[in-house]
Amino acid sequence: MKDLIRGNLSINIKSIDLLNEQIKMEFEASAMYLAMASWCDQQGFMHCANFFYEQSNHEREHMLKIFKFINENGGIAYSPIVNKVNHEFSSIVDVFETALRGEIKVSKSIHSIFMQCRKDNDYATEVFLQWFVTEQLEEEQTMRRALQIFELCGEGNEDLYLADKRMANH
Ligand SMILES: [Fe+2]
Ligand SMILES: [Fe+2]
Repeated sequence: MKDLIRGNLSINIKSIDLLNEQIKMEFEASAMYLAMASWCDQQGFMHCANFFYEQSNHEREHMLKIFKFINENGGIAYSPIVNKVNHEFSSIVDVFETALRGEIKVSKSIHSIFMQCRKDNDYATEVFLQWFVTEQLEEEQTMRRALQIFELCGEGNEDLYLADKRMANH
């Protein structure tokens, strides 16, 4: 029965498996940002904490977007498990570097699924993923800008306080 249903999909079975892996990745990003929000809260970076709470929500929305796409198109989406979340950071710059590295990893993953869809003539998933390609550009830019703020500011309490304040507009 399952195979019969799957056999008539306009999205490729291979794409569904890849998208399920992407669901996990988005959820891991959501958990990572929540841990970063916690670290920022503890260290007194109030605006950065708010920024990461918001990012965590965004990642959950990304996950749901893919989740629903799979289910609405006859596939089966799997609720992901996050294995291990890092809560230790050496500095606020470390936090944003880790965040940027994570976003680049997600972009590469989206691109590789996109490429696979092209190979398999899975137009529906390719079009669906276009939103994610653009979204990743924005997310990388946001993290690069935030990283710059903290790389360029001094290390004194006053400097860090002002840099954190600038994150209020993100
Ligand atoms: Fe995402
Ligand atoms: Fe992201």
